[in-house]
Amino acid sequence: MPPETIARWRRLRVSATFRRLSLAGRRTREGENHMANVDTAQSKDGRSSHTGPKILVDGGDPAETMRVKEALGYVDGQTTNPSLIAKNPEVKKRVESGRSLTEAEESAAYRKIVQEISPLVGSAGVSIEVFADLDTTADQMLKQGQEMFTWIPNAYIKYPCTREGLKAAQRSVAQGMRVNMTLCFSQEQAAAVYAATKGTKAPSYVSPFVGRLDDIGWNGMDLLANIKRMFASGDGHTLILGASIRSLPHLMRCFQIGVDLVTVPAKVILEWVEAGRPMPDANFRYEFNGKPMEYREIDLNQPWQNFDIKHELTDKGIRKFVEDYRSTLRKAS
Ligand code: G3P
Repeated sequence: MPPETIARWRRLRVSATFRRLSLAGRRTREGENHMANVDTAQSKDGRSSHTGPKILVDGGDPAETMRVKEALGYVDGQTTNPSLIAKNPEVKKRVESGRSLTEAEESAAYRKIVQEISPLVGSAGVSIEVFADLDTTADQMLKQGQEMFTWIPNAYIKYPCTREGLKAAQRSVAQGMRVNMTLCFSQEQAAAVYAATKGTKAPSYVSPFVGRLDDIGWNGMDLLANIKRMFASGDGHTLILGASIRSLPHLMRCFQIGVDLVTVPAKVILEWVEAGRPMPDANFRYEFNGKPMEYREIDLNQPWQNFDIKHELTDKGIRKFVEDYRSTLRKAS
């Protein structure tokens, strides 16, 4: 990538990327017309001008996103996943009343949810996750991703940090799609995302899952800091999206590390607003008794296939998403 492009990317906000994509005459998508309005509104009323990482709602309920927007004044973006969609009040009500969904109905419900959220959020877009179990191929993921990318004008397609997910991502960005690589638990996986999404037109996202590393005794925040350090020698085409954020100290540490974006449950965002939107000062110390995650020197300029991307938590996360997705489906008779 030419140096002037790299420098430009570093200066530009993600919002400018969307504008550029529209101007580049990407294929027409349903609802594309409102993207320009979202972007303009964001810059006109200053909602995107806050400092620090972009703040995304980690959830699957448009009403909740609206509540956060009212309290915070803006929402930069949203991330969704099969577990969060299964918790959507309408989906839950349907399942609990014994009217589980067919696969087509589940997909329609997901589409409706993200279409309601799409105009509420700013330049960081709405991440939509493909359905993938441990046997799903890159072709199958890509097919879903292509379809989901037409749902809303500001979609990011979420693929897992697996070999098949990375293959799908590489092919997606080659087709001009935006991607968010989820279930990242290691520096190697983040390096592979960087390598696989080289040449992407819009920045790709990598989502390291902090809380789930904490759950098994690591200091998950170290992974964010390590990826940030590793990417310092890169060209800036992959942004770090702190995910699996469970608490105010997590959020404060994300601010301190300087991640690009952070996706946060509504409850924690509202707690932060309630606390007066504190930012970490020089005295802020993040306290967590997990095992430290050591930084590893990694050469980013290798084919993604060279990296050891296997991680038990990625597989476990996929299994959990499958379970939650299936819990909404009608049992075959
Ligand atoms: O952003 C990812 C998130 O939804 C996972 O959070 O708390 O289930 O690890 P958690």
